[in-house]
Amino acid sequence: MAESVKIGKSDVTTTPLGLGTNKVGGHNLFDGLKDENGKQVVKAALDSGISLLDTAYMYGLGRSEEIIGEVTQNYDRSKFVIASKAAQDPNNHLEPNNDPAFLKKSVDDALNRLQTDYIDIFYIHFPDDKTPKAEAVAALAEEKKAGKIKAIGVSNFSLDQIREANADGQVDIVEDNYSLTHRHAEKALFPYLKQNQISFVPYFPLASGLLTGKYTQGDQGKFSQFSADQYTKIMKALDQVKQIADKHSATVAQAILAWYIADPDISVVIPGARIADQVKSNVKALDVQLSKAEFEQIDSLFSEF
Ligand SMILES: NC(=O)c1ccc[n+]([C@@H]2O[C@H](COP(=O)([O-])OP(=O)(O)OC[C@H]3O[C@@H](n4cnc5c(N)ncnc54)[C@H](OP(=O)(O)O)[C@@H]3O)[C@@H](O)[C@H]2O)c1
Repeated sequence: MAESVKIGKSDVTTTPLGLGTNKVGGHNLFDGLKDENGKQVVKAALDSGISLLDTAYMYGLGRSEEIIGEVTQNYDRSKFVIASKAAQDPNNHLEPNNDPAFLKKSVDDALNRLQTDYIDIFYIHFPDDKTPKAEAVAALAEEKKAGKIKAIGVSNFSLDQIREANADGQVDIVEDNYSLTHRHAEKALFPYLKQNQISFVPYFPLASGLLTGKYTQGDQGKFSQFSADQYTKIMKALDQVKQIADKHSATVAQAILAWYIADPDISVVIPGARIADQVKSNVKALDVQLSKAEFEQIDSLFSEF
């Protein structure tokens, strides 16, 4: 198992590979999910030694947290890390709310659903338009002082909003959209985070499954965020990644995940999973050691994104 990583300036440590759980109980986001599968996904992660479970109120409007709470009762609490998030206000059409009182209530509600007395990482899931970000973070700092949370995160904040939120140096971690096919964060965000000892967790690391290599040219319509030209380039790049993966007796997804694990700008990669077998396969990325040349080759294959 790879070395553990420390989250920002907090005392939280975790494996560099975690589990994204928006398909665990996320019935409001995805069709055809079954709670039982979700439970198996969480069990598979914990049984494989993955320590970080990334959830949110928004995944099933609390259902993902409830499932995690149920499954984790059978595991040693000191051996895994829960990250959760809140902002969507159920009393206002799920509009983002960063009001200090709302965030504090959200922490308490999440603790109840998760059946635990602390949450390792708590993120403000989305910024709202009205709350000064330093005030929102100050509310979470009080929760940290009370021992209810251990590290403070923000998600989907612009760089200016992150700067404002981190005015007193209280932000430990940022979660944002980033993958080999979506690399905007590298230019300005990564240098700021490094200077300020803030950890980074990318979401959509597998580009919602595209970077597993399971889709073909004919599936372009499923990925409308890419032009036809971009999609073709991704398919060609994945053919090259497959050659690298083959040398390690690994899958394309494992090689891609190994690339994030090897990237010093990324703290924890949290691929989502629909079924337990995907988790069992993805965790093997921890055993794939890309050479420097392979790391650089994958980097340059996706350099235009
Ligand atoms: N902070 C935020 O605003 C935010 C936003 C989005 C996500 N997130 C978090 O980030 C996590 C990761 O994002 P994501 O799950 O949406 O996208 P992702 O990690 O890019 O893709 C995950 C999906 O890829 C497929 N997959 C995973 N492993 C596979 C394998 N070995 N073989 C074949 N297919 C595989 C599965 O979907 P299928 O089987 O259905 O193809 C899985 O649900 C989420 O779970 C969530 O915790 C946070």
